[in-house]
Amino acid sequence: VGKDRRTAYGDFHPKNHVKKKHVPWVEVSDDDDRPRKTTFKVVANGHQPHQDGRYPRKIKKPRHSLGLTEALSTPGPGNSGSAASLQEQRKELPIAKGRDALIQEIQNNDVTVLLGETGSGKTTQVPQYILESGLAGNGMIAVTQPRKVAATSLAARVAAEKNTSVGKLVGYSVRFDERSSAETRVKYMTDGMMVRELLSDPLLSQYSVVIVDEAHERTLRTDLLIANLKTIQKQRNGLEAVSGKGKENANKPHPLKIVIMSATLDAEKFSKFFNNAKILYVKGRQHPVKIYYSSEAQTDYVDSAMRTFFQIHTDQPPGDVLIFLPGQEDIESLEKSIKLFASQLPKDEMEVLTCPMYASQAPGQNAKVFAATPPKTRKCILSTNIAETSITIPGVKYVIDTGMCKEKRYLARDTGGGFDTLLTRAITKSSAMQRAGRAGREGMGVCFRLYTEDAFNNMALAPEPEIMRCSLTSSILQLKCLNQDLEELDLMDMPDVDSSESFHIPALCISLIPATVASALKTLWLLDAINRNKGLTALGRQMAFFPLEPVHARAVIASKENGCTREVLDIISVLSASSKLFVDVTEQRETAAEARRKFRHPSGDHLTILNAARAYEEIAAGNAGKAARRAWCREQFLNERTLLEAAEIRNQLRQTCGRLGIDWKVSCGDKEEPVVKSLAYGLAQNSAFLQPDGSYKQTMGQSTVKIHPGSVLAEKKVPAIIYDELIFTNQIYARGVSSVPKSVFASIGALNRRTA
Ligand code: CDP
Ligand code: MG
Repeated sequence: VGKDRRTAYGDFHPKNHVKKKHVPWVEVSDDDDRPRKTTFKVVANGHQPHQDGRYPRKIKKPRHSLGLTEALSTPGPGNSGSAASLQEQRKELPIAKGRDALIQEIQNNDVTVLLGETGSGKTTQVPQYILESGLAGNGMIAVTQPRKVAATSLAARVAAEKNTSVGKLVGYSVRFDERSSAETRVKYMTDGMMVRELLSDPLLSQYSVVIVDEAHERTLRTDLLIANLKTIQKQRNGLEAVSGKGKENANKPHPLKIVIMSATLDAEKFSKFFNNAKILYVKGRQHPVKIYYSSEAQTDYVDSAMRTFFQIHTDQPPGDVLIFLPGQEDIESLEKSIKLFASQLPKDEMEVLTCPMYASQAPGQNAKVFAATPPKTRKCILSTNIAETSITIPGVKYVIDTGMCKEKRYLARDTGGGFDTLLTRAITKSSAMQRAGRAGREGMGVCFRLYTEDAFNNMALAPEPEIMRCSLTSSILQLKCLNQDLEELDLMDMPDVDSSESFHIPALCISLIPATVASALKTLWLLDAINRNKGLTALGRQMAFFPLEPVHARAVIASKENGCTREVLDIISVLSASSKLFVDVTEQRETAAEARRKFRHPSGDHLTILNAARAYEEIAAGNAGKAARRAWCREQFLNERTLLEAAEIRNQLRQTCGRLGIDWKVSCGDKEEPVVKSLAYGLAQNSAFLQPDGSYKQTMGQSTVKIHPGSVLAEKKVPAIIYDELIFTNQIYARGVSSVPKSVFASIGALNRRTA
């Protein structure tokens, strides 16, 4: 594959110079002595997995391509093959061989760390094995996932394997959506929901087994969960574990078993944390993958990915291609150029079918990814990290790894709440290995890395745990409700103490504690969620009830006294949806702006959102069918999925309001001030005043901000603004902006207390 790359391009390419711009590759032969990939097998504690630097050569039966499509798109039973054939497929999974050994180990140990390659059957099978073996007694088995889409689709898959529908024996629970019943024994849930469950059930007494899946991702919630599980296990298992068999005791919950599952080799750390817990390995079915590095650094990874794709397409035998890109925008732009060039291929070439794949995609849309590739066609899947471990895609033979991913990072400076940024950055070694591994699922594969071997060698081993780089506001509030202080938890990693970035807030006596912790405490204090002694207030407890960011929860609570709960819920539910309401299409920016004009509200973006959401509701309340509604949304450049998701969120929020004695039906009609005022209670930290020179200066930070050009207030000058977020490009922009009368500011305590 290596040498003949230079003649890769045919004449199809409109820009002939591209011929010269091939991506040159350095081949890394499969049998050098570098340990690149590790094979797994179930062995006793203390043994290291094989590190012979090779992929296993002996391959047994080819893998089945399972009916992932239906399972992913329509939660429900049966569609992914008959129950009988699903049972056959279960038996074929690599983990099936280790079943008895696995059960035995989980039985004998309080904590088990289970490692295995993606697709070996950990997530779908282990909970079923535990259930079938009776290990869970009468308790439930929880399986936590970092991603919502994984939790819901896995529940659908496992329900189908159990020949039942979701919500009965097998259920799920994710933010704003839950399907479970008294019958439920296996519950797939997000790690965030599990942490939330601690609020109502501090010992998690309903569960006898908690499986923490994809633990290597080290999300903030996973870390908090793991810390709590350790304590809970001590409390629940107490002396009983030492004296062997648990005695029947009506008051004491069933002993707790913990299983930590992960795809990569960071098992040692988990094991150490749990007092040298036993580590088990599942040997996967991995075929050899040949790895190519680009011989020189690539400046434009989207362009190199495009060229590499066509090099593969014109030179290489059939087999689908999986391209890893950092995010949706890159995926869309690459898809466009691949489609364009593919349409100019000679007629006798194989066709190209592009399939984008990212977490916020409409459900069902990603079904295309899992459907069998039509004849004479090469599928090209363009994916984010989501295909790295959470999801297995059949048919892939070639992987193109751009070496980039998006990472959320919170910049906790004293700039009025800090910034959440989503930065595109280089991946880590463990990601690179996972990505390459995706090529060897069904046979020999090839992975093209769009970076040099040196770059690979310089990569960090694994991503920094989220707790070190994310906003902690919401988590600290939740922990306060559990009477816990983050600083005092037994965590696997603690955010750094960086005195240069730490705050000194005299009123709180905070100086030398981690910057992100201090920033979160400051925000909570300004929101009145905690008092001067860092103690939780009644308001804070109410805020924690809402499955919302504290700033949004505060706005909802403020809407009660301002008499506009209905309006505020409408707005907050749109802001809490996973994608933006207004669609931004670069080529049609003018048309989009024109369409948007009719929703425009003079006070700014928040009421503009309300107008758009109301307009959609009117259409929906009329007799417009599904297709008509969709067409309307397209004409208005509104994302219908956001509106549908927002409607579900709003239902949940209305219920939460009900429980807290807030009447969601109370409306302020056409008045805007109550709405803006309520929002300002939450967004007090995100506020700025107009300066004589026309810029805006933060009320609680030193930065000068500009109103984002996409805002309805972009061209206007108003005395004071609140905003949803700040984003950096060449300067700091405020996005999601509303104009706030100065009188409103005067009535918000937080703004007066900032200098206290
Ligand atoms: O957790 P792990 O990556 O080890 O594997 P898994 O998620 O339990 O998946 C085992 C097999 O079930 C995979 O090879 C998938 O093909 C299949 N599966 C599926 O068809 N549909 C799903 N929603 C999940 C898994
Ligand atoms: Mg899994």
